[in-house]
Amino acid sequence: MTFAEQLQADIAVIEPALEKYLSRETGEGYDRIFEAAKYSAMAGGKRLRPVIVLEFCRLCGGDTQKALPFACALEMIHTYSLIHDDLPCMDNDDLRRGRPTCHKVFNEATAVLAGDGLLTAAFETASAAEGVSAETVLHCIRILGQAAGMNGMIGGQVLDMGAEHRKISLDEMRLLQSLKTGCLLRAACELGCVAAGKTDGATLDMARTYGEKLGLAFQIRDDMLDIEGDTATLGKTVGKDEKSEKSTFPSLLGMDECRRLVTALTDEAVRAVSGSSGGAFLAALARSLTDRMN
Ligand code: IPE
Ligand code: IPE
Ligand code: MG
Ligand code: MG
Ligand code: MG
Repeated sequence: MTFAEQLQADIAVIEPALEKYLSRETGEGYDRIFEAAKYSAMAGGKRLRPVIVLEFCRLCGGDTQKALPFACALEMIHTYSLIHDDLPCMDNDDLRRGRPTCHKVFNEATAVLAGDGLLTAAFETASAAEGVSAETVLHCIRILGQAAGMNGMIGGQVLDMGAEHRKISLDEMRLLQSLKTGCLLRAACELGCVAAGKTDGATLDMARTYGEKLGLAFQIRDDMLDIEGDTATLGKTVGKDEKSEKSTFPSLLGMDECRRLVTALTDEAVRAVSGSSGGAFLAALARSLTDRMN
């Protein structure tokens, strides 16, 4: 299979599983919350994080079906983070994944609750994983909790909000972005290994290095796309970071240095997996993201 075929095959497994996990309507009066959660979750994101979970599981010789609940749980957490990130009290965005944002279509309260619902459903989904040991489930839940929590993505979002309208140092920027974006991507790599039963230090170090390097390159590219992207292709409004006076990599380093950094960090991510047989997909995935347009 080529890289593109493998990517499509992974997404074709992830999307129906995700939809199934989120289809728990009861016919009672609160079903609109499922509609709101699925509106955002099934809007065609790139599915980068769940793909990485499955591919690290494959790299470690595991059964990708067993990693699927953890992959979907992580995508639920990611989608929740986007719904809340777009709220008027945060980035105040109208467009996400090529559609009006959750709070625009439903309302703010429903969007807050849809995010809360997705975060909660993630842990329910992970805890119900079958065919893996209770120890593996617990380990995966801990990875998810740590990555999504206050020492992870939430902490990064707090730093991001606090870095508006002021200049921060490169070190502060690296910390902000590694928490905000890096933690969930690193978790994706770790979850795949753990779901495959590979928890030795060397494997987890390799996975973490790939995740951290890729995470940083990914967020730099995200910041660049806010400047050089196009709203229709990107599926979100460009120019928002400058308008909101966000601290971003381009605002600190300029576009040329950002381009150089994305390439250098991607090389480091590729190097992390190049010693493993079966690392070719993850290497190609990292390379495909360097000049992504969405
Ligand atoms: C967007 O993530 C938010 C960031 C962490 C930069 P993605 O670019 O992976 O968003 P989707 O899932 O494809 O919509
Ligand atoms: C958001 O970063 C990261 C999280 C949701 C945790 P951004 O605010 O840069 O993401 P976009 O550009 O809105 O997707
Ligand atoms: Mg934000
Ligand atoms: Mg945002
Ligand atoms: Mg952004």
